[in-house]
Amino acid sequence: MDSARITAAETLAALGVTQPDQVAPLFAEIRSRFGLESTAIHDEPAWKTFRDAWLGRKSGILAQITDNWLKPAPPDLKRAVGAGLNELRAHVESQIESRRQAIESGAEQSALAREHVDLSLPGVTRPIGSHHLIRQVFQEIEDIFVSIGFSVVEGPEIETPYYNFEALNIPEFHPVRDDMDTFYLELPKGAPTPLLLRTHTSPMQIRTMEKQKPPVRVIVPGKVYRRDNPDATHSFVFHQVEGLAVDSDITFCDFTGTIEYFVKQFFGPGVKTRFRPSYFPFTEPSVEFDVSCIFCGGSGTAAGGGTCSKCKGAGWIELFGAGMVDPAVYGFVNYDAKKVSGFAFGMGIDRLAMLKYQIDDIQVFFQNDVRFLRQFP
Ligand code: PHE
Repeated sequence: MDSARITAAETLAALGVTQPDQVAPLFAEIRSRFGLESTAIHDEPAWKTFRDAWLGRKSGILAQITDNWLKPAPPDLKRAVGAGLNELRAHVESQIESRRQAIESGAEQSALAREHVDLSLPGVTRPIGSHHLIRQVFQEIEDIFVSIGFSVVEGPEIETPYYNFEALNIPEFHPVRDDMDTFYLELPKGAPTPLLLRTHTSPMQIRTMEKQKPPVRVIVPGKVYRRDNPDATHSFVFHQVEGLAVDSDITFCDFTGTIEYFVKQFFGPGVKTRFRPSYFPFTEPSVEFDVSCIFCGGSGTAAGGGTCSKCKGAGWIELFGAGMVDPAVYGFVNYDAKKVSGFAFGMGIDRLAMLKYQIDDIQVFFQNDVRFLRQFP
């Protein structure tokens, strides 16, 4: 632009133009500079500056040419200069206008390219998470027991052998320890006590009674660990809800009534319960609670005839262990075994969930496959 402007600022005499045939090449040179400049204009602000530089009324290049070339031109050059100027003006005006149109439509195109709005695309759905089925079943169980006066407490998953065994009336060489063979933590030499991953939630019976005087009514949901090899019904980590009720006048009837209430709330009013004698070192008497088979309605016969595969024709399914708290346990927590009585139970949540929701492999709870999880929103 500068070179065209410099040329336009001179008079023809200063440029050495004295003959009419020197005029056309001069305009040709200006025109080619204009062409070069115009190719470098790509946006609106640059276009405006460009337009003013050439067409500006007072100091645009065409105005300069008028003032410096045309007006002072000697008569024999005037005609050629006038013609050249008119031609140049027509060219500059039309080129500047077509440049404007190019910039405008180009800008629209690149804006479209940047956004890429495709209104036919479906919207973005953000998946909403949900509670794991085990967490949901914990909640169902908690709601039922809270509604009849129990409170919910939680305890440590790393325990001492004292709470996991001894205080529950399981001395060191008691054979039931074999059933609960567990994971011990590797500790530095000289650690005051071994530590293990709790094998059941029952240690919380002791911890709760150590902390509070009767009456006690608690349930304890949580994870427990055993050295089991994984298969359809075993996992080295699973879930339990412990229950403990101790007061001055709790009877075996309170115990069975509470359990029955819970089972009917959980599985529906149609189910029946029964208990069988069992053995746990920390309950006396100890029982195993059964529920009438939810798959065959307790008949032992499958829907299409033949033996029910779930209860193997028995009509009953084993649910969980329970019992009246063994008086020996009270000795560990300074409760007076002559004045208090109570019951305890420990249910496997994975098992309850499998029965209620007809799941036949415990491993699916731990694999976290969303195709499974999505079935329980
Ligand atoms: N803790 C026992 C188990 O894990 C279950 C249980 C709890 C039995 C409370 C009786 C009373 O097998």
